[in-house]
Amino acid sequence: MARLGPTAICRELGVRYPIFGFSHSPDVIVALAEAGGFGVLGLAREMPQDIAPLIAEVERRLAGKPYGIDLMLPAGVPKQADIASVRAQLPDAHVEFVAGLRSRFGLDAPTRPGFFTTQVRSEALFEAQIEAVLASGARAVATAIGIRPELIARARAAGKYTISLVGSPRHAHKALALGVDALVAQGADAGGHTGPIGTFSLVPQIVAAAAGRPVLAAGGIGTGAQVAASLAMGAQGAWLGTLWLAAAENHTPPALLSRLIDAHSEDTLITRAHSGKPCRVVRSAWIDAWQQAGAPEPLPMPLQQALTGADFSAMHEYDRADLIYEAAGQSVFAIDAPTTVAAQMATLVAQADAALGALEAMLPA
Ligand SMILES: Cc1cc2nc3c(=O)[nH]c(=O)nc-3n(C[C@H](O)[C@H](O)[C@H](O)COP(=O)(O)O)c2cc1C
Repeated sequence: MARLGPTAICRELGVRYPIFGFSHSPDVIVALAEAGGFGVLGLAREMPQDIAPLIAEVERRLAGKPYGIDLMLPAGVPKQADIASVRAQLPDAHVEFVAGLRSRFGLDAPTRPGFFTTQVRSEALFEAQIEAVLASGARAVATAIGIRPELIARARAAGKYTISLVGSPRHAHKALALGVDALVAQGADAGGHTGPIGTFSLVPQIVAAAAGRPVLAAGGIGTGAQVAASLAMGAQGAWLGTLWLAAAENHTPPALLSRLIDAHSEDTLITRAHSGKPCRVVRSAWIDAWQQAGAPEPLPMPLQQALTGADFSAMHEYDRADLIYEAAGQSVFAIDAPTTVAAQMATLVAQADAALGALEAMLPA
């Protein structure tokens, strides 16, 4: 029997299932919408000139189906920055350490231009992203690290549903005071930038703080039983990121996909080596090298990516089995084979139905 169905936030956004998917891949966003979920497209890795055509293409393929856009807008970045001048100012010890890693691992320079080889996060870049989102047909705007009062106000004025990812009750209170429509309670189990509180402890605290506003549970979720558990904790749905890395629509490099299939929850760790801020990733020899004695402390955002962004691009371009890594959560346990978004959604819904049925059966008649 079908038990999993739309919650209030689903009805507000016009989706069938309370399953929300974050992804950088437009193909994942389209496939999620087709399977009855709500896809949220991450723009944090796009070059400014690519954003408008990318959004136009996604909207053409969605043909009116609702979707969201996610922005990552940390404070403390330069007003304007070009990568060459930022690179020229990096500390010598860090530059030498990374040069040593490149020669030890035989990692060549990447050949394809991309976000990590040409961009530095700056206020000018963020403004271009914000303008593109506000001009888009996205139904929802989500913001991770760094909440900006003016963006929430502008998005709400443009009729967008605003969602804020939070990792603590303190973050939640700040977001609620700015009038956001919904919160994602993202626990430390999550792939990507994260705080220290685990999902199972965080969700009830954020549900209490939200005082009736919708909350989605995120971090470590890879099964339908966990989607059902999210509802049991008072969330109106679940927000997943890592799971979609296994879908064909994500175009994950083969060596990374194998690593994710082989990885267990304990093969992920929180490190500043990726971006300069605490970020949960799946381990590789590159990440391990930053944890070893003698390794320098990673630089603050956005300097760490100016230092290592080209290497991140190179290990993906060359599909280096030993080095390749990506943001990934403890939910990596749920990745066991290459698959598709449609198959993943069908499994999540069937598992959630079974879990809800089992709960019903436990209740006294
Ligand atoms: C590869 C990857 C990149 C991510 N990048 C972002 C991002 O740019 N903005 C954001 O709000 N969340 C980002 N996240 C976090 C997700 O939005 C989501 O909260 C998280 O994946 C949930 O935990 P899970 O990975 O265990 O499913 C990222 C997650 C992954 C796996």
